[in-house]
Amino acid sequence: MVVKKVGVIGCGLMGHGIAQISAQAGLSVVVRESDQAALDKGLQRIKRSLDKLVEKEKVSRPDADAAVGRIKGSLRLEDLGDCDLVIEAIVENLDAKKQLFKQLDGLCKPTTIFASNTSSFSIGEMGTASGRPQRMVGLHFFNPVQLMKLVEVVRAKQTSDEVFAEAKAFGEACGKVPVAAADTPGFVVNRLLVPYLAEAIRMVERGDATPADVDTGMTLGCGYPMGPFTLLDYVGLDTTLFILEGWAKAEPSNALLQPPKLLREKVKAGKLGRKTGEGFFKWDGDKRA
Ligand code: CAA
Ligand code: NAD
Repeated sequence: MVVKKVGVIGCGLMGHGIAQISAQAGLSVVVRESDQAALDKGLQRIKRSLDKLVEKEKVSRPDADAAVGRIKGSLRLEDLGDCDLVIEAIVENLDAKKQLFKQLDGLCKPTTIFASNTSSFSIGEMGTASGRPQRMVGLHFFNPVQLMKLVEVVRAKQTSDEVFAEAKAFGEACGKVPVAAADTPGFVVNRLLVPYLAEAIRMVERGDATPADVDTGMTLGCGYPMGPFTLLDYVGLDTTLFILEGWAKAEPSNALLQPPKLLREKVKAGKLGRKTGEGFFKWDGDKRA
């Protein structure tokens, strides 16, 4: 694998996990946030996650400490200039992502591979904006990154064979099982998952069932580890809304892809899920209250 140094942009729900597994794979990591408070929170989260894995005897204390030692936090995009791979995990907004990759093209060495952890947007469009479309690939990890085994490796039309192979090797080095996905909205998993989450919200809007009963139905009836409302709170209602809004703009006549009114109301009220302490359920830190 050519990749030895990884840049991660955004140290939120996904970025902190991506930085952590990259460091656990023995790679040197620079993680960039837009402000110090968010960076401190993200780095703290990595330490807590590693402590948990040590407690559960999944990682040894020296390995956990070594992983922390390989991660450097930064507020400067310039610090990612010599990275072999840069993975973007900022807010789900296509214009913000395109602008970021354009900026990175001017800062990173010509061989740097650009990857996006986007849930729903076109890797090809980001590649075009970056000015190096052959070196752009999707690396879509799942939440919580530390525990979920899958990574979708998304190949846009312009992605080179070499970049796709490197991205896949990186995913494997991080202990994930890669699946190849085409550059279509939602790739494999979210094209199925997100309409299902939206349908669950519409069911509650119609008054057919409560969120708690829908969740019990899907956990006990289908063996899912979490029902759709717990999962919505886990993913973030804002992120789910951004995904649906992007798709609704592109396919206004597809009823499955329209954002439910209740989802908009929750986001407007600041009830974004686990990260704000309330979404469809109330949360006490990481656990359901
Ligand atoms: N780091 C370290 N440890 C962690 C952790 C983390 N980030 N997150 C949880 N743990 C720990 C928990 O604290 C827990 O420890 P304790 O037993 O000491 O409390 C342990 O891991 C196991 O957690 P749980 O007891 O909650 O065990 P679980 O069997 O329920 O597994 C789960 C948790 C893996 C999250 C499971 O519930 C699950 O698979 N849920 C579904 C998640 C899912 O569908 N994710 C995809 C979201 S969609 C997406 O990501 C794509 C997108 O673009 C939106
Ligand atoms: P989040 O809001 O938890 O984190 C985003 C972080 O990016 C924030 O901390 C923010 O301060 C930071 N940020 C924004 N602009 C930045 C910039 N220019 N430079 C550096 N940092 C910046 O969001 P998240 O849930 O981690 O989602 C991040 C990406 O991952 C999105 O594209 C999302 O669709 C995708 N994703 C999310 C999930 C999920 O379950 N939440 C799963 C898979 C993929």
